[in-house]
Amino acid sequence: MLRDRIISRIEGEGPLRVRDFLEMALHDPREGYYAKGAAIGAEGDFYTASNVSLFPGALARFVKAAMERLEGARLVELGGGTGALAAALQVPVTAVEPNAGMAERQRAQGLHVVASLEELRPAPTVFLANEVLDALPVHRLLGTPEGVREGYLDAVDGALVEVPGPLSTPELVNAAARLAPHLPPGAAVEVNLDAAALLSQMARAAPRGYALFLDYGGAPERLYGEGRPGGMLRGFRRHQVTEPFEAPGEQDVTADVDFPWIAQLAAEAGWHGHAFAPQGEFLGDLGLVDDLMHALARGDHAAYLAGKGLLMPGGMGDRFGALLLARDAPMAPPLPGFHPRPHA
Ligand SMILES: C[S@@+](CC[C@H](N)C(=O)[O-])C[C@H]1O[C@@H](n2cnc3c(N)ncnc32)[C@H](O)[C@@H]1O
Repeated sequence: MLRDRIISRIEGEGPLRVRDFLEMALHDPREGYYAKGAAIGAEGDFYTASNVSLFPGALARFVKAAMERLEGARLVELGGGTGALAAALQVPVTAVEPNAGMAERQRAQGLHVVASLEELRPAPTVFLANEVLDALPVHRLLGTPEGVREGYLDAVDGALVEVPGPLSTPELVNAAARLAPHLPPGAAVEVNLDAAALLSQMARAAPRGYALFLDYGGAPERLYGEGRPGGMLRGFRRHQVTEPFEAPGEQDVTADVDFPWIAQLAAEAGWHGHAFAPQGEFLGDLGLVDDLMHALARGDHAAYLAGKGLLMPGGMGDRFGALLLARDAPMAPPLPGFHPRPHA
């Protein structure tokens, strides 16, 4: 079992960084949650917007405009899960999916799937990534009376327990300085360093391109200023929030996305432009409100209610966001989804 392998590793090598635990729990090639083919949807552990019937239609308007802007562009979806979104877009899509179990599900939808961005020849590209950044392994920083430490997992009487240890890379020193106001003793925050490699690989694959990331998250002030001193790392199993370290390989483990941090990493990776909109504003600008009215008019209450959920303030409408990146591609006039809002 994966849990036993993790405990043996800790017994052999000493405490394991939370980041390395998460890499095993989610992406271990044999027993990782995503490698086995995550349970997404009503019968599974969690839903995503890709399961909502009106979502692909709204997103298709963004895709069409971005493709028209970038002559000769291809469409690439990162981490497509079950493949539901790409299949519903009804345009040719290349799927990049490192996890074999997920790739199998995407191929079953008739999608062309490659395991890595390195397999793509450089070409103008529009990337889509819904709830992918939140699935990357994150480092944890812990506030302690002695200063900021990194989170590691130790095995104590057969249980996995988070303990403080030294910062393992210089990048964490910079991240710790940025997040210091959120790290009083007893607090914890997450740092997504793995996104840097992903953004660089995307830049190499796309000398010109747009990249749209949709995910839950926001600025650190919002994420960690809302009475979440223990950080945003959590598990999901059968639609319930669970302890992140309790059942590696058997549940999703995820953390909200710090969008300003991703924009900073993107700039360092060669993505020169960026724009952000809360998901409700983004989908509203793409015409989802009209789609809801049409769903109501034809009596499709399920589509209406699920679609409305994506827009709701205080819910998915502003707890989720859309980050657009551009690389040698114009940001003006704004692409659909990112028109300035009167109150912004
Ligand atoms: C939470 S699921 C989201 C699935 C899908 N996009 C949706 O909206 O339902 C995360 C997806 O990202 C994939 N993934 C994880 N790390 C990745 C990486 N480095 N590159 C591309 N995909 C990745 C997972 O295998 C999975 O398919």
